[in-house]
Amino acid sequence: MSLKLEFPNNRLRRTRQSKWIRNLVQENILGPNDLIWPIFVCEGKNIKSEIKTMPDVYRYSVDNLNEVFDIACKEQINLVAIFPYTPEDLKSNDGREGLNPNNLVCKSLKKLRDNSPNFGLMCDVALDPYTDHGHDGLINDEGTILNDETNEVLVKQSILFSQHGADIIAPSDMMDGRIGLIRSELEKNNFKDKLILSYAAKYASGMYSPFRDAVGSSISLKSNKKTYQMDINNSDEAIREVSMDISEGADIVMVKPGISCLDIVYRIKNELNFPTFSYQVSGEYSAIKIAAQKGIIDEKSIVIEQLSSLKRAGADAIITYYAPEISKFLRLLS
Ligand code: PBG
Repeated sequence: MSLKLEFPNNRLRRTRQSKWIRNLVQENILGPNDLIWPIFVCEGKNIKSEIKTMPDVYRYSVDNLNEVFDIACKEQINLVAIFPYTPEDLKSNDGREGLNPNNLVCKSLKKLRDNSPNFGLMCDVALDPYTDHGHDGLINDEGTILNDETNEVLVKQSILFSQHGADIIAPSDMMDGRIGLIRSELEKNNFKDKLILSYAAKYASGMYSPFRDAVGSSISLKSNKKTYQMDINNSDEAIREVSMDISEGADIVMVKPGISCLDIVYRIKNELNFPTFSYQVSGEYSAIKIAAQKGIIDEKSIVIEQLSSLKRAGADAIITYYAPEISKFLRLLS
């Protein structure tokens, strides 16, 4: 049915004239349940150190994760994503620290699990926090990222994190075929209920650089990630990426970065009707945060505007460094 809208029969401002009617006709509602909180962990004791390129975001040593636990409970966060800042001397060409049962992610999982949280725990599966070249996969002498060899490691990493209590395994590496391999190994190991959240449409974006500082991979990374992350000009390809990951056994797909990929979230939701998350990435966070600190913009209204736009595009949930702050804010409003 195509409506014929004509003035003055239709005055669209009628439903905007006061707050009560705006509330009633609001189509999408951003709520605390939509937010996922990424956290950074580091070695050492009693550390809570601010990340220079991400003001108000901290790296916590494992013993200080009680603070994260308390914030997540208080702000009713549903899911926390753990990212490690691996010491330089533990990084290597093959990123073997990623498979160490005593690595930062495993220790963090154990610490948070022991407190029996009522929120989920998610772990990135990729090698970049552990490699001395900063790439997400294994690399040969010519600098080529090796797909199938990397997959073997990602499968092992997924099992390791599952054994340590991760609820969601989140491969963020963009290798081909890894979801199917991870899914079948999870099934074989009786991890039938582990969720896989695939970073399915992850673009080679300039917006990840503060994150690379946060996990300590920016200094070592000498080349870009364009041979595995997607070309920012492509959209059909995102549908192929996501379709493949769904057929291989992903439960949820992720689009990344956030605001520059609204169209991709929209297409996925409309064409594939599958749980779709969006990631407001570090560069998006810091751009808002630093402009706000300089008094150029109103932080809350801009964060809410951007997160609401992601909801409007179709995102079911959003990973954001703003999660605790905005969750609190939204609960106070309601
Ligand atoms: C690593 C990974 C990245 C992010 C999440 N996992 C960086 C990258 O791909 O280089 C980016 C998150 C952010 O910028 O907030 N595989």
